Amino acid sequence: MTIPTHELNDGTTLPAIGFGTHRLTGEDGVRAIEHALETGYRLLDTAVNYGNEEEVGDAIRRSGAPRDQIRVTSKIPGRHHAYDDAIASTRESLERLGLARLDLHLIHWPNPSDGLFPETWRALVDLQKEGLVTSIGVSNFTESHLRRIIEDTGVTPAVNQIELHPLFPQEEMRTVNESLGIRTESWSPLGKRSAPFDQAPVQAAAEAHGVSPGQVILRWQVQLGAVPIPKSATPERQRENLDVFGFELDDAEMAGISALAQPDGRLFGGDPDHHEEQ
Ligand SMILES: NC(=O)c1ccc[n+]([C@@H]2O[C@H](COP(=O)([O-])OP(=O)(O)OC[C@H]3O[C@@H](n4cnc5c(N)ncnc54)[C@H](OP(=O)(O)O)[C@@H]3O)[C@@H](O)[C@H]2O)c1
Repeated sequence: MTIPTHELNDGTTLPAIGFGTHRLTGEDGVRAIEHALETGYRLLDTAVNYGNEEEVGDAIRRSGAPRDQIRVTSKIPGRHHAYDDAIASTRESLERLGLARLDLHLIHWPNPSDGLFPETWRALVDLQKEGLVTSIGVSNFTESHLRRIIEDTGVTPAVNQIELHPLFPQEEMRTVNESLGIRTESWSPLGKRSAPFDQAPVQAAAEAHGVSPGQVILRWQVQLGAVPIPKSATPERQRENLDVFGFELDDAEMAGISALAQPDGRLFGGDPDHHEEQ
């Protein structure tokens, strides 16, 4: 299956869909990630906090997928935000992954009350110069966080990975990202425990196109221009989640799914200093 790609602002490319690995740990985790690579996923999303960078590295080696065709993402946790800690954190990630470089490295959360995210960003800029990281980006950043690091360094993140699903479509942040030339990635792209699989607009589109509700939601993501990174430990769901490039939602279907937005639709409570980094 050929997956379309997006060009990033640093000249590299990102597959239009990726694979989330949160909670995929141990031997079962390795098998699930290896299966995802065999199914055709070429963008993997891990983080120091997922405790599975070793599993991701093992799965890559076991799958036999060519290294230069895979984009491996990891993330620096809040407790590693000081400049030297961020550099050490990245080297440790590479060691656990067994890789010479990361394809995309993100600041996991801004943790603004610590005031350290600008220096974490400077560390990422230096790591990119050194060649340990190909693309650099952020996660869960608001417009003011983004503007601060761009003003400081002149370097714009390639990606901002944010919570985005039908109950929380993030229209404003998608517009901010786009206006700054930043690609939006969607975490919990199905909506995790609140996935609206049973809602009428999703059900109707699934029936009209002969696909599953999960495929409808992921196709909606793709047509928004966001890069979803669904997680599944189930081989059949891994396959169907990747198979979203053979049909197209019309404007009314897109609008119907976006209209599922709820004022309290976000999974994460909203305080960027008090959260469980996932
Ligand atoms: N940057 C951040 O702060 C942040 C925060 C949260 C998540 N993330 C990243 O985003 C990734 C995805 O988010 P997520 O894991 O929270 O949520 P998600 O991908 O929206 O949902 C995953 C859940 O949906 C189920 N599922 C997957 N495909 C399905 C389908 N086609 N039909 C029905 N159910 C399906 C999975 O079950 P099975 O596994 O049993 O199939 C799993 O329980 C994470 O793995 C992580 O890499 C990043």
